[in-house]
Amino acid sequence: MTDLLTNPPRFAADFTWGVATSAFQIEGAASADGKGPSIWDTFCRQSGAITDDSNGDIACDHYHRFEEDVDLIAAMGLRAYRFSMAWSRVQPSGSGPWNEAGFDFYARLLDALAARGIEAHLTLYHWDLPQGLQDQGGWLERTTACHFADYAAEVTRRFGHRLASIATHNEPWCSANLGYGNAQFAPGVADAGAAIQVSHHLLLSHGLAMTAMRAVCKQLGCSPKLGIVLNQWCADPATDSAADIALAALEYARSVEWFMDPLFKGHYPALALQAHGEHAPQVADGDFAIICQPLDFLGVNYYFRAWCSAAIPPLPPPALLGRTAMGWEIYPQGLTELLLKLHQQYALPPVYITENGMASADLLRHGAIDDVERIEFVASHLAALKAAIDGGVNVAGYFLWSLLDNFEWNSGYAKRFGIVHVDYASQRRTPKASARWYRDFVAQQRAATNGEDNHENDENH
Ligand code: FCB
Repeated sequence: MTDLLTNPPRFAADFTWGVATSAFQIEGAASADGKGPSIWDTFCRQSGAITDDSNGDIACDHYHRFEEDVDLIAAMGLRAYRFSMAWSRVQPSGSGPWNEAGFDFYARLLDALAARGIEAHLTLYHWDLPQGLQDQGGWLERTTACHFADYAAEVTRRFGHRLASIATHNEPWCSANLGYGNAQFAPGVADAGAAIQVSHHLLLSHGLAMTAMRAVCKQLGCSPKLGIVLNQWCADPATDSAADIALAALEYARSVEWFMDPLFKGHYPALALQAHGEHAPQVADGDFAIICQPLDFLGVNYYFRAWCSAAIPPLPPPALLGRTAMGWEIYPQGLTELLLKLHQQYALPPVYITENGMASADLLRHGAIDDVERIEFVASHLAALKAAIDGGVNVAGYFLWSLLDNFEWNSGYAKRFGIVHVDYASQRRTPKASARWYRDFVAQQRAATNGEDNHENDENH
């Protein structure tokens, strides 16, 4: 590990280095300036839904402190920021009138980023459906996909020329399976069949939004890169038994291929469809043509691998590098394995790692947080990423999750993912050791590649 830190891998000169956040996790201001409630506002009020009984009412108060937060990004020398828009802030009930005050907030955020030379990478949907649409059936209703496309078109009309990229969805696997499959996330439904139908409507909404956004871009002559962000993992069998191998293949089909096949090949994977049996989704004629259209980029969020054991009880993963505060196995090689496999299976557009990072205890000691384990986590995943690039995968950027400690969904505020510590009582931000490391790492990359450029120029002359 020391070698990784002192002798880091070298990335391309135009590689994008950034940090990521999402609206509900940081903004707060839950009902400010005309914002409507989202399913997460509602879910947080269900007793027992959130471990520490918290909610997103204030969160990191980013709505009022975005200038300071953008300064933190700039101070690390980063030139890219991935964030999401709260749909119910700009369209309080998810259909009908737009809320100008909501759009104004994002306009101010974009101004602040532009003033510091930071590219804006927007995600339209990071799980916070307007409650108004949930009241009409949410993602179980096909019409929600049409409302989503209208929202995507409006955002593109207003901001398309100011955005480096627009992702339709963040991790639709989670929206479907945790929101509708096991009730861990909003809207808190536990119904296997519903989860699968929802995943189809999410994919459909992605396709409709892509078409709508492309039309707007053409009309206005703007060209943000358009794509989607998927959480993915490689699925490793615990042993070489036939049962474990079969389980791993099924897990990969139900999670990764379930989204990748429709997006890149225009159908669902046969293995998963068969396993879903009577829960297979209703697909209308023409749906796959809508879903399967060229992407300018694919966002991959990687945190851990799937470890597949058919034994009862299942064999735990070896976790040779330990586990994070979430209990997730630290397994950087899984990122290489996953990307090489995707590259072999699909004609990939440029890939961005849109999230990667870890939760740790991060105690503030004498005003400082020495999160060595996070530095090692990021460094080892960057080395794994470089190995995938060397293996032929076209990776264009990396966004560390997350800029700030924030509301970690059903875990509340107890799990800290930030490279900047947030003291929620005072809202004081304190960069952790990892923030300084990331700043130095990125500076080192720039210095090295500038050196290369100059050297190439020397040779040319
Ligand atoms: C991902 C989510 C993100 C954050 C990280 C830890 O699944 O996209 O919002 O919660 O996990």
